[in-house]
Amino acid sequence: ADALKIGIAGLGTVGASLARILQTRANALAIACGRPLTITAVSARSKGKDRGFDLDGIAWFDDPMDMAEKADIDVFVELIGGAEGAADQSVRAALSRGLHVVTANKALLAKHGVALARMAEEKGLLLNYEAAVAGGIPVIKTLRESLTGNHFSRLYGIMNGTCNYILTRMEKEGLSFADCLKEAQRLGYAEADPTFDIEGNDTAHKLAILTTLAFGSQIAADEIYLEGISNISIDDIQAAHDLGYRIKLLGVALKTATGIEQRVHPTMVPLDSVIAQVDGVTNAVALESDILGELLMVGPGAGGNATASAVLGDITDIAKSRPGAQQVPILGRPAHLLEPYAKAE
Ligand code: HSE
Repeated sequence: ADALKIGIAGLGTVGASLARILQTRANALAIACGRPLTITAVSARSKGKDRGFDLDGIAWFDDPMDMAEKADIDVFVELIGGAEGAADQSVRAALSRGLHVVTANKALLAKHGVALARMAEEKGLLLNYEAAVAGGIPVIKTLRESLTGNHFSRLYGIMNGTCNYILTRMEKEGLSFADCLKEAQRLGYAEADPTFDIEGNDTAHKLAILTTLAFGSQIAADEIYLEGISNISIDDIQAAHDLGYRIKLLGVALKTATGIEQRVHPTMVPLDSVIAQVDGVTNAVALESDILGELLMVGPGAGGNATASAVLGDITDIAKSRPGAQQVPILGRPAHLLEPYAKAE
C-alpha cells in the first residue's frame, strides 16, 4: 500500500523524539499499519542543529504555514504549541487543504477545539490529539472510543508533569521551588512559558478537553476556577505531611444537578490514597461513570518519548483508517451536537 506521508511542524523535545522513533522503528511500524510511515517534510527554526535523525529526502520548511500549504504530505503533525499564531493558522490551513491533523497542543484545543473539530468533521478528516492531555496516557482514546455510552459523574487527576515533579522533589529532596522548576525545564517537561505549568493554566486546558469528552458540552476553559502551585512552600508541604496528607495540583470536573463544576488547585490528598503515590513527572486521571465504575489511569505525563508515543499512536490510527470511511467524532460527539456549557451554581 502507499506510504503515509508525514509532515512534522516543530522539532523540539517531542518532535525530535517522534522523528527518531519513526525512523528507527520504520519496519515494525510498516508491518503493524500495513503501509510504510514516511516523514516527507519537517518545519522548524534552526536547520543546522543535529536532532538525531536523518534529514535525507525530507523537505525542510522554515515556515509551518508553507509546509501546511505546499508540502507533499497526508498528515500534518503540529508540535509548535501556543493557542494562536503559527500553530492555529497552520492547523487550519492543513485542514482546509484536506490533510489529517495530529496535535499535542492543549492550549490550541482548549481555545479553538470546537471550531477545529467542525472543520475536520465537515471534511471527513481526523484531528487526533492524544498527546494533548496527560502525555503518554491514552485517556483521549479511552474517553472518545472505549467508554462511549457511559454517563460520567466526575473526573479528576494530576495532569501537569512539571508541577507534580516540583512538588515531589520539594517534599522528598528538600529542594527549592526554583531549583525544581529548573530541573523540570532541563528534562524537557515544562512549557515554553513555564508560568502555564505552575499557575495551573496547562492543567486547566487539559481539564477543559476531558470535560467536553466526558460530559458532551462545549469546551469551557475560561469557566475553570484556577489556582497554581507557585505559592506552595516546603513548610506547607511538611505541614500537610504531618497531618497525613500530600499536596497535589489536581484538576477536577463534576456534574451536578445545576451544571458542570471545573476547578484546578493544590489539594490535600490522604497519604494512603493511590493519587498521593503518583510521583514525579507521572500523571493520573480518574474517570467515574455509571456503567464501568471508577477507572484510574497512571503513566508518564510529559517528556519527549512518552509524549511522542501518544503522537505516534495518533499517526498509526490515521495510517490504519480506511479512506472515505466515517471517522470517529473528534470530541466524543459531533462538534455541532455539543451541548451549551452550563456552569454549576
Ligand atoms: N508541560 C506539560 C507538563 C507537558 O508538564 O505536563 C505535557 O503536556
